[in-house]
Amino acid sequence: MVVTSQTTQAEPFEVAKTDGRPAVLTLDGPAPADPVAWAAGNRDAVRAAVAEHGALLVRGLDLRDAQSVGRVSRELVDQVMTEREGFATREVWADGVYSSSEWPADQPMCMHHELSYARQVPATLLFACLAAPESGGATGVADSHEVLEALPPSLVDRFEREGWLLDRNYTDTVGVGLAESFGDGTRAGVEAYCATRGIELTWQANGDLRSGQKAPAVLSHPVSGRRGWFNQIAFLNEWTLDPVIREYLKFEFGDNGLPFNTRYGSGAPLDEDTVTTINAVYDKHTLREPWREGDLMVVDNFRMAHSREAYEGTRRIAVVLGDPVTVPSSF
Ligand SMILES: [Fe+2]
Repeated sequence: MVVTSQTTQAEPFEVAKTDGRPAVLTLDGPAPADPVAWAAGNRDAVRAAVAEHGALLVRGLDLRDAQSVGRVSRELVDQVMTEREGFATREVWADGVYSSSEWPADQPMCMHHELSYARQVPATLLFACLAAPESGGATGVADSHEVLEALPPSLVDRFEREGWLLDRNYTDTVGVGLAESFGDGTRAGVEAYCATRGIELTWQANGDLRSGQKAPAVLSHPVSGRRGWFNQIAFLNEWTLDPVIREYLKFEFGDNGLPFNTRYGSGAPLDEDTVTTINAVYDKHTLREPWREGDLMVVDNFRMAHSREAYEGTRRIAVVLGDPVTVPSSF
């Protein structure tokens, strides 16, 4: 393992970047008495390290509760976002501070960029570990530019030409509800939200809702301009689902009734090989560091995809979405 330790700013801000791991800043000695003051004092250095490496794990800040995470995050991002159109339910733990997405502990959450299908995308994500699981459960990150370079050119070309489609089905029984997704659960409220964001809606006879939206698959980073594979094409596709769960959902809701599915922008379905190829490239480019209680990870959501491993034990990760950017609707 090659260690390429480097100093991003004057001592003691020394970021270690090791193969296979995200950049890590370890605060030696006792934790800062006031993590909010530490964040305020080190904001520029933290953001510079995130700009350089795509993500930074700060170890030793000793964050213990959601309120502290909220106050620290407000020092590190310009604007804290309210989540809309999330793909899974979250609890609100404090103002602007959410639980990680509800997802079965024994199922990994594959690489994705948060809200990559939406028009308002958080540029910065903060994850804080309030309870570390007994095993597994790391939040992996992968560089979208490196993933783009590693994918087969023919696969990239087609998605770049066509974009990708996200299909969603909102039901009373599975997944995120209308009010949580759109901020207003009334039919008029949902329609008003979607009309301004290019989301097409079909109301079913029983009141359930089907939605469809198109997004670019490859995006230039809003600051660096570097192109990256920025989407949730593989993660939200039926071929990423555990086969037992996929069959159950299809039996229950029909072939077109899955809570999520993705297609080529032309409407054509994806085959299993395409999805497997994308997930395999992500696996190869995953950087991981097991969580320790009190850790904070700041992630550039445009630059880095993130994932969650399966885990055992209690895992409490607080999440803040920050710095919304409006993504061009070029499709
Ligand atoms: Fe996520």
